[in-house]
Amino acid sequence: MLFAWRRLCGESIRLLSARLIIALMVGVIGVSVCSSEYEVYLAKRNLKRDLQRRAEVLGESLAGNVERDLERGSQRLKKTVQQFANRENLVGLAVYGPDGHIVAVASDLAPRLEKAPSIVAQTFEEDRELETFEHLGDQPVHICAVPLRSLDKFLGVLVVVHDAGYIRAEGLHIWRETFLSGLVYVVLIALVTLLIVRWSIEGPIARTAHWMRALRTGHLPSSRIGVADLELFQPLAREVATFAESLNTARGEAKREARLRAEGQSQWTRERLAADVRARLGSGRLFVVSNREPYMHMRRGRSVDVVVPPSGLVTALEPVLCACDGTWVAHGSGTADRESADRNGRLPVPPDDPRYVLRRVWLSKEEQEGYYYGFANEGLWPLCHIAHTRPIFRESDWQQYEAVNRKFADAVLDEMSETERPVVLVQDYHFALLPRMIKHKRPEAHVAIFWHIPWPNPEAFGICPWQRELIDGLLAADLVGFQVQAHCNNFLQTADRVVESRINREKFTVERLGHSTAVRPFPISVDNVDPVDSVDAAESASATRSRLLKSLDVDALFLGVGIDRMDYTKGILERFLAVERFLDKYPRYQGQFTFVQIGAPSRSHLKRYHDLEAEIEAEAARINWRLKTGKWKPIVLLNRQHSHSEIQPYYRAADVCMVTSLHDGMNLVAKEFVAARSEESGVLILSIVTGAVHELGDALQVNPYDIDQMAETIRAAMEMDPEEKQKRMKRMRRTVREHNVYRWAANLIVEVSELPVGQLENVSESPPARTPAG
Ligand code: G6P
Repeated sequence: MLFAWRRLCGESIRLLSARLIIALMVGVIGVSVCSSEYEVYLAKRNLKRDLQRRAEVLGESLAGNVERDLERGSQRLKKTVQQFANRENLVGLAVYGPDGHIVAVASDLAPRLEKAPSIVAQTFEEDRELETFEHLGDQPVHICAVPLRSLDKFLGVLVVVHDAGYIRAEGLHIWRETFLSGLVYVVLIALVTLLIVRWSIEGPIARTAHWMRALRTGHLPSSRIGVADLELFQPLAREVATFAESLNTARGEAKREARLRAEGQSQWTRERLAADVRARLGSGRLFVVSNREPYMHMRRGRSVDVVVPPSGLVTALEPVLCACDGTWVAHGSGTADRESADRNGRLPVPPDDPRYVLRRVWLSKEEQEGYYYGFANEGLWPLCHIAHTRPIFRESDWQQYEAVNRKFADAVLDEMSETERPVVLVQDYHFALLPRMIKHKRPEAHVAIFWHIPWPNPEAFGICPWQRELIDGLLAADLVGFQVQAHCNNFLQTADRVVESRINREKFTVERLGHSTAVRPFPISVDNVDPVDSVDAAESASATRSRLLKSLDVDALFLGVGIDRMDYTKGILERFLAVERFLDKYPRYQGQFTFVQIGAPSRSHLKRYHDLEAEIEAEAARINWRLKTGKWKPIVLLNRQHSHSEIQPYYRAADVCMVTSLHDGMNLVAKEFVAARSEESGVLILSIVTGAVHELGDALQVNPYDIDQMAETIRAAMEMDPEEKQKRMKRMRRTVREHNVYRWAANLIVEVSELPVGQLENVSESPPARTPAG
């Protein structure tokens, strides 16, 4: 197919070049004919004017003499007439008497002027000088007739005849010259055009074909690579890239499906999820609500960049939306977001291959301050993560939280106003009040809320001044999802304690105000697990490792990685201390083992996060200062946001990946690392207080507060038998493959769309007033 396409392109280009050249030739010839004609016209006009002027001057200067000769007698006249016969281009003179008969004529003219030209009679009649171009026999001539007078007496007409043949000859000459130079232009332009076509079209097309071949044969990890080479055809190249990528994905999916069918299993894929959701929703539609948007448009100088924010939620949900279509409602937080959306804040995404609609909601600075930074991230985030950072609750933040939940509810209700059977998946701790607000207006809607972060025990949650309102908002949903069963249990206990309700511990439901809410675990995941050895065979994990270390200008043999948002729940400082302890305890690894921490700055506007970034930098600098030798250093801190494609080589090359969260709902870095290890090597060190640890039992588990244990675990990872590593990685990869994000979404959507959607009784739109703690 590739060859056929290439041949087709070659033929098309030749056809295009031939057409282009013919069109150019016709055009240039046409233009040069017209310009030659015009030049000839101008030259002839000037020559004629010149001749007329000369004839007039001669006629007028001779008229006096001829008048005198006429009065004196014809002998003298004949002499005068003959005398002027040999001037340049002058054919001769003739004199006619008042009766129209010839009186004197140059001998050359005599036979042709016996009969007076009509201009002579006209001059008699009009008694003024006249002139004309005409033919005498075959010869083109100019005739100038001057009336002759003596006082009032009319003596006759002097006729001056010039040869006008040279005017035509000159015209022909000019025409030939102009036309020939036009022809030379045509040939030159055609040649240059041919060369341009060859250089600027054939080259890129050949490169496209080469690139597509590489893609087809699996020598490129992504179709996006190499597209930048096709300068002239960027828009076309992007389309082809997307097309090729879709084809490749489809082929990969088909292969995987076939393999799984052969194995008697069935794995959830993007296609299967799409088909399943379409069949399930019928005329309904999927609506997702989250604070963080999947694509931010950021102004950088004069251009606008599309940025995918670092967020586990975005990593997980984006492939689901791409598979299912639907609408994603989120806060438009990019600096160029407004100008990239329509006036309702809508735009199709992903930007280069639209699959679903993103509806942006605009928030003022005060709203962001109170709702996002304040209540969500200074209140709920530390409340739910037991990481020993004290939550801060402010009345003003709460009010903004409520107001922004209302704003989002309005946007969602607006988006689903024409959908009969909407399924709404609300995401995370930013929107605890949203289920209630939506259900109040659309009780028949299927509403689920998925809480991505942990849910603490009732004692811990009990310090939140608005716990009742939050529980009340959540219990309006038909389904409340958590990452693991333990968080579901904590939530059931909290609901039991905070509001009047009936808990069914067998069915895991909470009944309140005639409405039943199911509470279930749905461990979130990543989309694809790279097939074994799928990545460019030319670069092994060890080659990638050497390349990365070289690019960082570090001399080392072993590579450890950590990839996180810079958040105090991620245990980054503890991880650095463990690396230091490991190097102190096992000095043979000094000069050999380097730990690369990729840390995306996050919520930096908050003092706690701002301080944390400074602490992380200071700690890395301290450890490096103490242990660094020559070109080796123990820690490399890359504190900027990295794209997915920048992170992938680190995942693939690392000997060990450290996820040491102090508390984490799931942690998708652990799963992304496993998914990227197509060589089935590398060791995952995983905190016991993450959701991921429940599924990835083959990781080396650590208590992030126990620095010594973590240091020992790094040594165990470094010295693990390669076969053992492979066995563990294989099993973890199978788990992640089978429990991917499509399965997560399918379970969530199936569950919420099958639950009966009961009416909420006695429910006002706003949450009940806060009851003072007893
Ligand atoms: C966690 C939360 C997400 C959030 C992400 C990034 O994963 O559960 O809701 O999007 O952190 O945080 P940010 O505040 O930058 O969106």
